[in-house]
Amino acid sequence: MIHETAFSFDPGRVFIGGKWQAPANGRHLDLINPSDGSIICEIAAGDETDIGLAVASARAALDGEWGRMTAMERGRILTKIGQLVLDRVDDLALLEANDVGKPIKQGRNDAIALARYLEFYGGAADKIHGETIPYQNGYTVYTLREPHGVTGHIIPWNYPMQILGRSVGAALCMGNAAVLKPAEEACLTALAFAEIAAEAGLPEGALNVVPGLGETAGAALAAHPGVNHVSFTGSVGVGAMIQSFAAQNIVPVTLELGGKSPQLVFDDADVDAALPFLVNAGIQNAGQTCSAGSRILVQAGVYDQVLEKMSAAIAKLRTGPAVADLDVGPLISERQKAIVEGFLGQLEGSAFIAAQGQLAENVPIGGYYVPPTLVAGVEAKHVLAQQEIFGPVQVVIRFETEDEAVATANGTEYGLVAGLWTENGSRQMRLAKKLKAGQVFVNNYGAGGGVELPFGGVGKSGHGREKGFEALYGFSVLKTVAVRHG
Ligand code: NAI
Ligand code: MG
Repeated sequence: MIHETAFSFDPGRVFIGGKWQAPANGRHLDLINPSDGSIICEIAAGDETDIGLAVASARAALDGEWGRMTAMERGRILTKIGQLVLDRVDDLALLEANDVGKPIKQGRNDAIALARYLEFYGGAADKIHGETIPYQNGYTVYTLREPHGVTGHIIPWNYPMQILGRSVGAALCMGNAAVLKPAEEACLTALAFAEIAAEAGLPEGALNVVPGLGETAGAALAAHPGVNHVSFTGSVGVGAMIQSFAAQNIVPVTLELGGKSPQLVFDDADVDAALPFLVNAGIQNAGQTCSAGSRILVQAGVYDQVLEKMSAAIAKLRTGPAVADLDVGPLISERQKAIVEGFLGQLEGSAFIAAQGQLAENVPIGGYYVPPTLVAGVEAKHVLAQQEIFGPVQVVIRFETEDEAVATANGTEYGLVAGLWTENGSRQMRLAKKLKAGQVFVNNYGAGGGVELPFGGVGKSGHGREKGFEALYGFSVLKTVAVRHG
């Protein structure tokens, strides 16, 4: 499959110190195409030995060519990587279609976003700096922003390109050397990225990529005493483990752990303007999106109208193989499909399925398809309104008053993103402050969107900020220098 693209990497290898090598233990894992359940290829089952080599090579890079580069030189390389990514958008989208099951146009969007991260952080590299601080007479005090050193990046399978772009991009911008552990379910674009980065002139060891299982390669990376900062995107349970590993090593972590993000639609909202956002925020990437705006809270006066219009739109959506490039692709795995169907099996009380999309004709039997589903009449405390489903399921909850809407919106353990649909300016400002979320979108909703926009959660959605300039503070450490000169 890779030979259909411009890439030449061997997916069965790890990328360490600028070289493609067999995993130390010689073991491999099957990589599955979610559109039909077939095996695409074997990938390396890296383990703690490979992680140890990768951390050592990152350390050597900091002491070598990479560590000596100026910020301007780092920026130039990142910008070049971004250009090469843009040249390969179609190839990257094809890899992602086969690996993640992402419809081609969604894979293209991800590849373009990856390029944008590299452009943004390429441009930012020489524009972030310390300060001078007024202090006592006879002193000059200034601050330096320095890299942490070796950064560990554990990323999931849902947006491999976007998540590696935001995390590795910002880390390299600040002069860290990165070790990336992509998800065992989907790691082809991470390997392709390593090939592109090398071609762009990234010095050896600045980026190392070790595919493998979470409990072996991932845990080894998170626990490695030579890693100075860990960034993780994935489930809450694993995030908690990552934080406890980091506690042992006393190193900072950035955790992005998903959510149950609400979109609040008030009686005075422009419902037709909201509609595509209400629908897309739940089905983008088949709902396997940390920031999916999948909890739709609707005020009583427009409830019937919103439900009717969303139902009509969702009933038209078509689900099928990624390369068919329909509205919705398959879920990542048999397991993820079972999780989503398990949620749909828990409808009780007033909750009911208001609409369901269609499966395309002749979808391959072995694919992991769940058509987009709209569940209405859901009580705020219902399991479907509380837990992250991570599938193309949107729940609609009715509310009467603004206070009730805020209480419901804030009434989960998560707090990643919130969307607000209202024409009332005072309410926009008031609720933007009251909503428990790392990002609030007013009269728009950008699941995962906005390379420039700081992103991250509160509560069980995690902590730390990625994206934008803010990420650069997280991926660096401040040193204060006080010079007494009389
Ligand atoms: P996961 O948290 O197990 O996997 C995410 C990454 O962590 C992968 O690279 C995996 O290899 C790694 N990992 C797993 N166990 C590890 C360990 N013990 N030590 C270090 N690294 C480890 O998530 P999974 O199993 O893929 O999905 C389960 C659920 O998690 C989903 O249904 C969804 O609700 C949530 N999730 C949220 C994501 C987000 O974007 N915030 C992304 C993926 C999953
Ligand atoms: Mg897992």
